[in-house]
Amino acid sequence: MCGIVGYIGHRDAFPIVIKGLQRLEYRGYDSAGIALYDGNKINLSKTKGKVEDLKNKAKEISLEGSIGIGHTRWATHGVPNDVNSHPHYSNSGNLVIIHNGIIENYEAIKQELTKRGYVFKSDTDTEVLVNLIEEVKKTEDVKLGKAVQIALNQVVGAYAIAVFDVEKPDEIVVAKLGSPLAIGIGNNEFFIASDASPFIEFTNNAVYLEDEEMAIIRLGKEIKLRKIKDDSVAYPRILELQMNLEEIEKGGYDHFMLKEIYEQPRAIKDTYRGRLLADQGLVKMSGIEQNMEKFINANRIIIVACGTSWHAGLVAEYIFEDLARIPVEVEYASEFRYRNPVITDKDVLIAISQSGETADTLAAIKLAKEKGAFVFGVCNVVGSSIARETDAGAYTHAGPEIGVASTKAFTTQITVLTLMALRLAKAKGEFSETKYREYLTELETIPSKVEKSLESNALIEIIADVYKDSTNCLYLGRGYNFPVALEGALKLKEISYIHAEGYPAAEMKHGPIALIDEHMPVFVIATKKGHYEKVVSNIQEIKSRKGKIIAIVTEGDEQVRDLADHVIEVPETLESLTPLLTTIPLQLLSYHIAVMRGCNVDQPRNLAKSVTVE
Ligand code: F6R
Repeated sequence: MCGIVGYIGHRDAFPIVIKGLQRLEYRGYDSAGIALYDGNKINLSKTKGKVEDLKNKAKEISLEGSIGIGHTRWATHGVPNDVNSHPHYSNSGNLVIIHNGIIENYEAIKQELTKRGYVFKSDTDTEVLVNLIEEVKKTEDVKLGKAVQIALNQVVGAYAIAVFDVEKPDEIVVAKLGSPLAIGIGNNEFFIASDASPFIEFTNNAVYLEDEEMAIIRLGKEIKLRKIKDDSVAYPRILELQMNLEEIEKGGYDHFMLKEIYEQPRAIKDTYRGRLLADQGLVKMSGIEQNMEKFINANRIIIVACGTSWHAGLVAEYIFEDLARIPVEVEYASEFRYRNPVITDKDVLIAISQSGETADTLAAIKLAKEKGAFVFGVCNVVGSSIARETDAGAYTHAGPEIGVASTKAFTTQITVLTLMALRLAKAKGEFSETKYREYLTELETIPSKVEKSLESNALIEIIADVYKDSTNCLYLGRGYNFPVALEGALKLKEISYIHAEGYPAAEMKHGPIALIDEHMPVFVIATKKGHYEKVVSNIQEIKSRKGKIIAIVTEGDEQVRDLADHVIEVPETLESLTPLLTTIPLQLLSYHIAVMRGCNVDQPRNLAKSVTVE
């Protein structure tokens, strides 16, 4: 995790680095730091807390200089405090480093360096790395770039680093393995960041380093890329970025999460634009067309993901099996990779990830590729590690998701997966033309139905006020809406810190029903299509035990209204598309409850947006 930012050019580095760090705070926000070179010496300030705290603290140093590096941290080694914050100096004070990742063998290197007289102020692996670079520089008598290359060959782990050396004051050296690193190329200036958001107002041209690549970024020169392993030359691939500034700002909303919830009609439309041609009865997805045989002849599809993306995978299991009749297994990436799974070259693995950087998902992909499976990625972040590592893929076009809690990523993932299932169902002849066209036409109506669902916001705020002080909540759903129940519970716990669990509604009587009393709010998804009568029976069971029922129902439903304490309506749609609607009120409920409890909605405690550690 962690976010890194750097600047070398002709402008003041401080505001660029600070603003960039603020944009990257989604990656970690327990401490932050900055180092600036004023043409003479390095001035460094760092602190436990957020970038805003750093901005205040940094007033104690000179803020001059057009070279700077900064860091926003999600602690791995060492508690979040001022000393463990980045940047870290080397013992001589000549080098400073920022690092996103983990150096696994840092203990052994630290012992060796300690024997050679090095002292360490922090508990971090990063301070060990900067001193290793210093030691190599000294003992091998090499310049910074070469020292970084040699040192990195001695470390095991993951990193995106930027290193500055007062003895080479016109350059910053960066390197990447496992953690992302983008270089923005401006007019005689360069930007370094974990993603492109810190420099989007300055340039649209970026180079994304590949794993095991490093770059020497020197003022007035072209970027030089080298392979870390053997120091051979690598060639930069300059990408033109599509992102715009508006997309990464709050746009009048109090929180990114709320903005992103409201963006869903647009995001879903952007995701199917050009792919869903309902009037022509077509779904066009190049990643599928080019690999149709692989999908059609697959023994099974294995879906790997984590968190919310895993929930989207569970919805996809229903969709693929129901529509395309392909067997599907959905796995937590973290479990899959460690349990010696049986994978063959007849398997297709779909990896779902908003960030495209989740370490466990990435490792699962590598494992499946080794075993010969065809690997397809569903990612949001263009050019991310997973997008690059997979054999083929389809992007969601949600736009940047800044709020740590995933919202529009979930619905756009389901949109892509639905399109895929429909295309495969058609290719396999599972559908009549009429039924196929009915699906396509209905999918096209989803953005306006999401908009309609968002109209319940005021009612949801009232309901949130009733339940904001609950200590436990249950979420129930069946069929396509069972994963939505899981997702609803995850949203509540991660941003409001209320304990919540999701269950398949019928499982309730196998244990969880024991929890129900007059203090237990139970959120039930009870839409008309999808085991409606059975869910109504479950609601009766809750009611007779005095549980509080908040039901998500289809517009016009009277039966559940008579039973439930509160109902929230969503428009009617095909059963397989209901998750795209039923998830909306649950997102809003979690949002309002968290705001009412005074929680930091966009940056919940202990979390980070991009989980690049195992
Ligand atoms: C929950 C949430 C996380 C992510 C998970 C996977 O709101 O955001 O559970 O879904 O960390 O992240 P990606 O999709 O980036 O692989």
